Amino acid sequence: MEAPQKNLALDLVRVTEAAALASARWLGKGNQDAGDQAAVDAMRLCFNSLNISGVVVIGEGEKDNAPMLFNGEKVGAGNGPALDVAVDPVEGTKLLAYGRPNAISVIGVAPAGTMYNPGPSFYMQKLVVPGAAKNVVDLDAPVAENLHKIAKALDKDVDDLVVFVLDKPRHASLIEQVRAAGARIQLHTDGDVSGALMAVDPRSEVDVMMGTGGTPEGVLAACAIKGIGGEMFARLDPQSYVEKEAILEAGIDLREIHTVDTLVRSDEVFFSATGISGGTFLKGVQYTGTGAVTHSMVIRGRTGTLRYIESINNWDKLMKISSVKYD
Ligand code: FBP
Repeated sequence: MEAPQKNLALDLVRVTEAAALASARWLGKGNQDAGDQAAVDAMRLCFNSLNISGVVVIGEGEKDNAPMLFNGEKVGAGNGPALDVAVDPVEGTKLLAYGRPNAISVIGVAPAGTMYNPGPSFYMQKLVVPGAAKNVVDLDAPVAENLHKIAKALDKDVDDLVVFVLDKPRHASLIEQVRAAGARIQLHTDGDVSGALMAVDPRSEVDVMMGTGGTPEGVLAACAIKGIGGEMFARLDPQSYVEKEAILEAGIDLREIHTVDTLVRSDEVFFSATGISGGTFLKGVQYTGTGAVTHSMVIRGRTGTLRYIESINNWDKLMKISSVKYD
């Protein structure tokens, strides 16, 4: 018998909560950078209260020139386990700026050296399926063939399936192929970490996620899927000549197909997400006048435990000690 070990996700949730509390003030205000900056500032500060020696290996500032936590940045008090850290203070900055569903604050951590380092890659093709369908799909198979196999594995008809696809011009042909195969589609403008989680969660109506999204988001989603089950097949999919050349120059093989086990090479992985705008899994931040309520999900890879946490914050007490002005 082994005594339970510390569940770091229960510490990380305070960091994603802080980012959500600070950034949700920007809901619908049309200002992507301000929402992101508020989340980054709160996240940085709160990270430093954790007894970890973290290094950000998956940040996002480079792609969008956002005020993000940058790759190589040290986070935590520096006195605990050495960890690789994947962060997205606001996953779905436009969702937040326009008040749309599914903006979340997300962190994944794993032992140092175990997280996939995507180098200068920004985009990745992803196919995310529930565990029951993981052995029947192939990233290179025609869309219709994969959908038929997924339907069979899930004991459904193809026209029962719902496919999550980011609504981007690059997906015009993919969307046509999904429709031609007879499956249904949820088109989302942004937010494919949520899309990946929907695909592996039997309680969501989404059965599969297909298409190309951010590489950081792929690694973040893998941190969660390692715990809750399901599979992601992914391959770098540069969207510009400059991105492709940079990847090749870094010596990264563009043909390699990744799974959650190659994106995160350890079961000691922890994931936390807090809702900023209300969405499929998580309600958004609700300011009550005297405080705020947040909703989060935390996952521990080793045990596969998924917890939903509702936190009720009280400004009277919190604002006496907080250096972030949440009220
Ligand atoms: P942000 O967190 O940068 O706002 O990302 C939102 C998002 O929609 C991701 O969910 C997705 O992986 C990526 O952007 C897709 O990138 P793009 O919008 O450039 O196609």
